[in-house]
Amino acid sequence: MDMSSLSQLSKAAKSRSITSLFSADVDRVDNYSTSKVGLYLDFSKQNITNEELSQLFELANTSKLTDKIKAQFSGEMINNTEKRAVLHTVLRCPNEIKRKILGTHADEVIATEQHMAEIVDDISSGALLSASGEKFTDIIAIGIGGSYYGIKVALSALKPFHTTGLNAHVIANVDGAAIEDKLAKLNTATTLVIVISKTFTTQETLLNALAVKNWMLKHSEDPCVIEKQWFAVSTNIVKATEFGVLEKNILPMWDWVGGRFSLWSAVGLPLALVIGNENFNKLKQGAYEMDQHFQNTPFEQNMPVLMALLGIWNRNALQYSSLAILPYDHSLRALPGYLQQTDMESNGKSVSNSGEKLAWKTAPTVFGQEGTNGQHAFMQLMHQSDDIIPTDFIVCLKGSSDLPSHHQVLIANCFAQSEALMRGKTLAEVEDELAAAGVMSDVISRLAPHKTMKGNTPSNTLLLDEMSPENLGALLALYEHKIFVQGVIWQINSFDQWGVELGKQLGNSILSAMNGGEASMLSASSQNLIKRFNHSVNK
Ligand code: F6P
Repeated sequence: MDMSSLSQLSKAAKSRSITSLFSADVDRVDNYSTSKVGLYLDFSKQNITNEELSQLFELANTSKLTDKIKAQFSGEMINNTEKRAVLHTVLRCPNEIKRKILGTHADEVIATEQHMAEIVDDISSGALLSASGEKFTDIIAIGIGGSYYGIKVALSALKPFHTTGLNAHVIANVDGAAIEDKLAKLNTATTLVIVISKTFTTQETLLNALAVKNWMLKHSEDPCVIEKQWFAVSTNIVKATEFGVLEKNILPMWDWVGGRFSLWSAVGLPLALVIGNENFNKLKQGAYEMDQHFQNTPFEQNMPVLMALLGIWNRNALQYSSLAILPYDHSLRALPGYLQQTDMESNGKSVSNSGEKLAWKTAPTVFGQEGTNGQHAFMQLMHQSDDIIPTDFIVCLKGSSDLPSHHQVLIANCFAQSEALMRGKTLAEVEDELAAAGVMSDVISRLAPHKTMKGNTPSNTLLLDEMSPENLGALLALYEHKIFVQGVIWQINSFDQWGVELGKQLGNSILSAMNGGEASMLSASSQNLIKRFNHSVNK
């Protein structure tokens, strides 16, 4: 079984209804569900049979998935275009395993973790005070992409675990209005700043850091405020010190931690400052347990492997090009954005590891929003357009608000959507329904086509027992591994992101053209847009 034979396999699936699979197998729910670390996955609403699933397991075997998992976890250089290992998983391992995998390099990693934990303790206890001798109340975290999304998703998910009394504000986008809004509410005398940039060369982050630096210098009486109130997380210690952060306040990262997988490193410092060391360790523990499950469980019950294979089935056999991520829990509202980056930046590729053009498609377009909001927006298209959009519904069984009836209604809506997307409504059903309501036959024939719904949209439903640091850690690790497995099967390198480079290069050329530099290499359209922009600025 290989990728090229996958579309042949899908003929039967294309013409059958998912609901028929339930009648054919009364135990389908038991057979098509699995659980681990506070997570339960129901994939019975996928359009797939046992025979097709076993072909997918064979595909995983042909792709040497077991060897590739071992290669990743043992630190082989699997990111071949950047000549790097991919070892974010080591950051959530017990120290003895860190030593086994990293050898003496583990000392630096463990020392960094200890340093980070001390910073968290010192700041939250008040042992480390601001330049004016006050206790810190707020943290500004400046970073973008992988140096932002993980922190953002965890900060919002773990609101009930914000126990240290510190408030974190994340700044990512290079939009002055967004920064001004945040700074206007903050007091320089009690605000700690953390610049997070693996490379310390990212335009947006550096510009934002400079703006925050100027704000702090302007409003602070102590000219050494940057030395006293700024931290950085980076692999580029030289650039971070040149910027003005004291070397002792720079926490290192390593090239084997990819940006979008870096929450588990010192990148998580703003989060740890807000939820405390114990909760941060629980987050890593949950991820570690998912890592163990991923490495040691047969594919048939292996949650990341199953989700990856089902995604491949939908993308390559059934040829659905999108994936909706619909958390029905306010705490997970940042998850769709986070997964957009982890999935699309990792697997949005079209050449193989060895540089050959692939004969198959890779990552789907990932989008989503917290429910029920999406129901009143894009879900119309999911129910009635011709495109089938596979969906991951994510729910916390235990609500975290004091309004239990809200939680029940929320969950009812979630379950209703997966049911509706799967069942749809045929023309005959609509006609019967209208007739039963006493609608005239001419009205029925006019209205009925507008009221039919295609159905047959596959979905996973992931139930979290509750939102907790452990469960969130497990959930994020689940998706990380799913994405890795898909990359293995698609034969791509999931750990580089060369695609973002052209935009960065052209961004610099355009900036220079806006400032009077050469513009003739740009298209007439871009030259015109620059002219109009400059004109409006100079008015
Ligand atoms: O978007 C490209 C990217 O390189 C991401 O992979 C990365 O997470 C982000 O930019 C930020 O990079 P850095 O942490 O180096 O500032």
